[in-house]
Amino acid sequence: MRTSPITQLGFLTLAIILMLGCSSTGGKYENSDNTAYLDGEGKRRGLFGGRQKKKSAPLQNPNINIRVDPRLARSLTYSRVRTEGPFIAMTFDDGPHPVHTPRLLDILKRRNIRATFFVVGTNARRYPQLIRRIIAEGHEIGNHTVNHKYLSRISIEEARAEVLGCEKAIVAACGVKPRILRPPGGHINDRVKVWLKKEFGYSTIMWAVDPEDWKRPGSDVVARRIISETDPGEIVLAHDIHGPTIAAMPRALDGLLSNGYRFVTVSQLIAIERRSVARISSNDNNLLSSSIPLNGKKRDQ
Ligand code: NI
Repeated sequence: MRTSPITQLGFLTLAIILMLGCSSTGGKYENSDNTAYLDGEGKRRGLFGGRQKKKSAPLQNPNINIRVDPRLARSLTYSRVRTEGPFIAMTFDDGPHPVHTPRLLDILKRRNIRATFFVVGTNARRYPQLIRRIIAEGHEIGNHTVNHKYLSRISIEEARAEVLGCEKAIVAACGVKPRILRPPGGHINDRVKVWLKKEFGYSTIMWAVDPEDWKRPGSDVVARRIISETDPGEIVLAHDIHGPTIAAMPRALDGLLSNGYRFVTVSQLIAIERRSVARISSNDNNLLSSSIPLNGKKRDQ
């Protein structure tokens, strides 16, 4: 029987549909179990199970277990400490910020770095869950007043309300009482420092390195300043309320780690200064015997 042109057209159409169907289902790796597949996190894995683009792990700060004792802080004020070891303290002021602080915490966690956050009371009240996360991840929290008031420019009554209000906000959020305070704007005098120590037991924490990130010079400049200006025992100032500061941190922190620096909290740094190298137990970090050489120029100066 002769097939009509219409029947021939029908076969042709069927053949084209089958061809298209085969090429779209069997021609790629999508549905093939032994080539590529999605792992549990939904990321595509390459042939033979290897990750296609393995992101290299960042440098890691070692675990540094230093017992902190508030009584060790004998000085009224600190911007750096004397130490034989390559220890430094990163500090972040004016947060917590709902976007930038979590990003920073992720960056720190990837590098096993503990930092110190001088929080403003109003922000601590608004974001108590961030205060709890900061503490839960091993960082230290310090007092930065309720409203970022300049303590040397207000009455003693106002100053007391500012300091106590921030302390209460922190304790209400996480149950941990701060033992250090950074005066907003760095505005402080000896009279206020003595008062802070006598009435609250606070040491006043200043800084040795200021990248002036709040002037927004750009992430490159902030990272470069932090890396080039930091010396052993120093406290570094930054602010976790500025996006470019957070963007500068991976480079700044990795640069310092690769130069041999090791990160501790401010209270750990103070505790380090009070210990002589001879008294360091083996449980504490051997870093204290300066076993890690600094690659940069700083060590021999
Ligand atoms: Ni501030």
